[in-house]
Amino acid sequence: MHRSKMGSRSFIYEGILICLCLLMMSPCECEEQIPLRIKDSGIKPFGREDTGLIFYVTAQNQGKEPLNLKAAMHKCCLLESPEDCESMHLIGGKKVILSPYDSCNITLMFVNLYLIDRIGYCQVDAIYNKSQAIRHQINFNTTASYNSWFASDLQGYPDCGSPDEDRLNRCTPVDCVVKYNGFRNVFNDKTRRCEEVPPCISGAAAGNTPTKVYLKEFNQCRDFDLALEEEDLNYMAGSKASSDLEILDVMQIKHYKCHHGHQNDKGKGCICDTGWSSEGSDESQYEPLTGTYHMCNLEIAYHEPPKTIDIHVLIVSL
Ligand SMILES: *[C@@H]1O[C@H](CO)[C@@H](O)[C@H](O)[C@H]1NC(C)=O
Ligand SMILES: *[C@@H]1O[C@H](CO)[C@@H](O)[C@H](O)[C@H]1NC(C)=O
Ligand SMILES: *[C@@H]1O[C@H](CO)[C@@H](O)[C@H](O)[C@H]1NC(C)=O
Repeated sequence: MHRSKMGSRSFIYEGILICLCLLMMSPCECEEQIPLRIKDSGIKPFGREDTGLIFYVTAQNQGKEPLNLKAAMHKCCLLESPEDCESMHLIGGKKVILSPYDSCNITLMFVNLYLIDRIGYCQVDAIYNKSQAIRHQINFNTTASYNSWFASDLQGYPDCGSPDEDRLNRCTPVDCVVKYNGFRNVFNDKTRRCEEVPPCISGAAAGNTPTKVYLKEFNQCRDFDLALEEEDLNYMAGSKASSDLEILDVMQIKHYKCHHGHQNDKGKGCICDTGWSSEGSDESQYEPLTGTYHMCNLEIAYHEPPKTIDIHVLIVSL
């Protein structure tokens, strides 16, 4: 009875011993360790005047050999519905040589005029010795209150309620083309967001007549025959239009941007600072995609009156 108890106990000890051995052996099996370690990452502090977000990855060389290191963007997405993984693109990622046991920052840059109010993530590859890479995700949130480094900078510029309304510019719509690099070109007044323009492709072209039309007010494609009603056709043909069919205001001005001035009391125009005026030609000052009309962007130049005396002298001497 006693002996058999001892036997089972030694069996257990043996088991424990084997486990310990396996545990001790496992590090040896991973001798081919990844020489690169990501210690930290993020975006660098930025201010109101900056025009680029700098993403950094702090990498450490854990190996005994130097490493040729560079960074490249895998993908960048803005967390929205639907997710936008197209409009943000990072550049840079210059190559560096990282000595054994050393750490350094490899950086990538997103260049844009609109840096604040972006929430999303970028996946960055830290590529060493040309072919091997570690993929790392950097989350970002440039909502004003989240970033203490410009929170004070933005005092007096309240949140507009939509990230596509520029809080630094009296909540006028951002320039969608610039903010989203051409991927979301229209400001939708209902959603107050920059949206993608649908491609209104007419089906197999029956002659040269388009079968689809684009309606800017809705940022939608419509079938040509449904978009135009009989009433519209009568109107265009010059026949009597129904009384409530009013001429569409071609320039649907929704916002005034007073570059060197301020909005008048009614909010329907600008009072320009001295020395500034508005361009005479209407079309060139109107941005149809956002319905924004630019004013006070023409500097009035003063020319010194010509020195008539000099001219007289010149004539006399001739
Ligand atoms: C990486 O490349 C460098 C320079 O070509 C070389 O000196 C080093 O041994 C390589 N490191 C590894 C881990 O292969
Ligand atoms: C990397 O950049 C961060 C943020 O600017 C900084 O705090 C850190 O000291 C840098 N690390 C190295 C190794 O340069
Ligand atoms: C981003 O920061 C804002 C402000 O602090 C916070 O309200 C929001 O929840 C954050 N969003 C994410 C996805 O972290």
